[in-house]
Amino acid sequence: MIDLREVGQGSEGYALLEAQLKALLAGERDFIANAAQFAAFLFHELAELNWAGFYLNRGEQLVLGPFQGKVACVRIPFERGVCGAAARTRQTQRVEDVHAFPGHIACDSASRSELVVPLLKGARLIGVLDLDSPRQGRFGEQDQAGVERLAQILLEASDC
Ligand code: SME
Repeated sequence: MIDLREVGQGSEGYALLEAQLKALLAGERDFIANAAQFAAFLFHELAELNWAGFYLNRGEQLVLGPFQGKVACVRIPFERGVCGAAARTRQTQRVEDVHAFPGHIACDSASRSELVVPLLKGARLIGVLDLDSPRQGRFGEQDQAGVERLAQILLEASDC
């Protein structure tokens, strides 16, 4: 695989990641297996992440799913944290400085910025994808658009 730390992470970087992800998930439709591969893939391919993974919708509560990084909180109510906000509003949350986000849950004290993408299959909320970075302002608009596309590929490639 090409190291994206060398080629940068503009839209071209994400186009390459999309192609690699499609190849990685081809031939398997199990959501948990694909989500686990996805978390490992992003954690190692995107620079400056300290956590990458999923929280799954378990009825007004998010429960920890496949991830890479330090051990994390297991349950997050919809009314708490960046992940809860993404689940509640069904909108991507791009937080430049987690210390300025009311209710942020500090699972890993190294996290400084966060990108949380809701996973929607039609009207159904499957869960959220959470990426954390130790660098404030790590995630820009291109990251948001790129990661949203990658999450869509995961949903289309999996039964959930
Ligand atoms: N910081 C998140 C909680 C999950 S961890 O970062 C892995 C939040 O505020 O929702």
